Amino acid sequence: MFSIQTYIERRNTLKRAVGSGLILIMGNEEAPMNYTDNTYRYRQDSNFLYYFGISLPNLAAIVDVDSGEEIIFGDEFTMDDIIWVGPQPTLAEQARKVGVYRTEPYGKLSEKLAKAAQVHFTPPYRYENKFKLSQWLAIPVAQLKAKASETLIKAIVAQRSIKSAEEIVQLEEAVNITREMHLAAMRETQAGKKEYEIVAAIHAKALEFGGELAYPIIYSINGQTLHNHYHGNVMTEGKLALNDSGAENSMHYAGDITRTIPVSKKFTDKQKEIYNLVLQMQLSAINALKPGITYKEVHLLANKVLLQGLSELGLVNGDIDTMLTEGVQGLFMPHGLGHAIGLDVHDMEDLGENYVGYREGIDRSTQLGLKSLRMAKELEAGHVITVEPGLYFIPELIDKWKAENKFTNFINYQALDKYRDFGGVRIEDNCLITPDGYQVLGKPIPKTVEEVEALRS
Ligand code: GLY
Ligand code: MN
Ligand code: MN
Repeated sequence: MFSIQTYIERRNTLKRAVGSGLILIMGNEEAPMNYTDNTYRYRQDSNFLYYFGISLPNLAAIVDVDSGEEIIFGDEFTMDDIIWVGPQPTLAEQARKVGVYRTEPYGKLSEKLAKAAQVHFTPPYRYENKFKLSQWLAIPVAQLKAKASETLIKAIVAQRSIKSAEEIVQLEEAVNITREMHLAAMRETQAGKKEYEIVAAIHAKALEFGGELAYPIIYSINGQTLHNHYHGNVMTEGKLALNDSGAENSMHYAGDITRTIPVSKKFTDKQKEIYNLVLQMQLSAINALKPGITYKEVHLLANKVLLQGLSELGLVNGDIDTMLTEGVQGLFMPHGLGHAIGLDVHDMEDLGENYVGYREGIDRSTQLGLKSLRMAKELEAGHVITVEPGLYFIPELIDKWKAENKFTNFINYQALDKYRDFGGVRIEDNCLITPDGYQVLGKPIPKTVEEVEALRS
């Protein structure tokens, strides 16, 4: 937990930004796997963690902006709870650690809400909270997202987007645990093993350093499938293994790193060409990071480097800027360059991607690739973002575009045939925007061909 002062100041900033009304922050419940007492790993809601710090189920909190009153609602542990899960501090003791001096039974919350003239709430993403809010506020479940408070959403986004020095310490710790996960994968990857053997080694490192996973591990010899969670393939010589995995540290901050490594000890020349192109995209993008530049510009810069490289390889030909405008690069990198990261791996995505990464005047594109860009607006000192370019050969997408005669004037479909079973490469790091540029968070993780091969030998 951070200091009492941190939580008090965070709530005071929120109160000033929201101005009036009652702010409701819902905690998360346990989520059953197959019956009530057999649950998935518990994860508290990130807004609750940010403002109230307590990582326990069945809590909700209100901040009355007009009176200044702050209450955490929850029920004390019964003797039965204590017998099964052990003794716990009282709710009042927990609340004092985050500077809240009033607690009430959970059942009292609905009465409080019923009396309020205006309730600000965030869009609920868990079904229990949807049902509760719907009942308490008499709003149909389907309308809850639309009725969520834009004032509250904007206030939270403005606040959580700028990471404090103590949050950066946590994020660096998460990246450093993530680094151990990636080093383990680099050491363990070997032809003949099943992907899940490496997945086990990656997960073990997160646990060994007191963390957990920030998101399900993507580790696959089929890296062309962007979020590939199937881990049953036997790895074979000559394939690439794409490892996109990140730790959540004990304070619940996330790391999100991708490395792509050869299953054989060394990259083939063909793999090196593609790998070095992605590396060049990533380094160009990282070097461009500074306050004031829009992340959409950085995304397009990386895509320009991609098209130049593909042109040199003879996979596309034509005027680079025209191809960039038309969206030829979507075939090769059908995702965005990156996203905000913090307590969530895609930070604050529950509040709405466009609130986090867009603003009036920067509209979301419908073009393949650009439409998945989660962060497009101007970068500011204190933002932490991922930089994750990739280059993929997706046979199904290639076939579709070819059948549609899409961009036949630019794309050399015949030359692409030689890459049908190549897979994909992605390289991802987490970067803090500083007043005069950027800082790549965490200790360096092998990234150049030479660095990766040195670890694989
Ligand atoms: N790990 C998911 C992502 O890179 O966005
Ligand atoms: Mn990732
Ligand atoms: Mn990412």
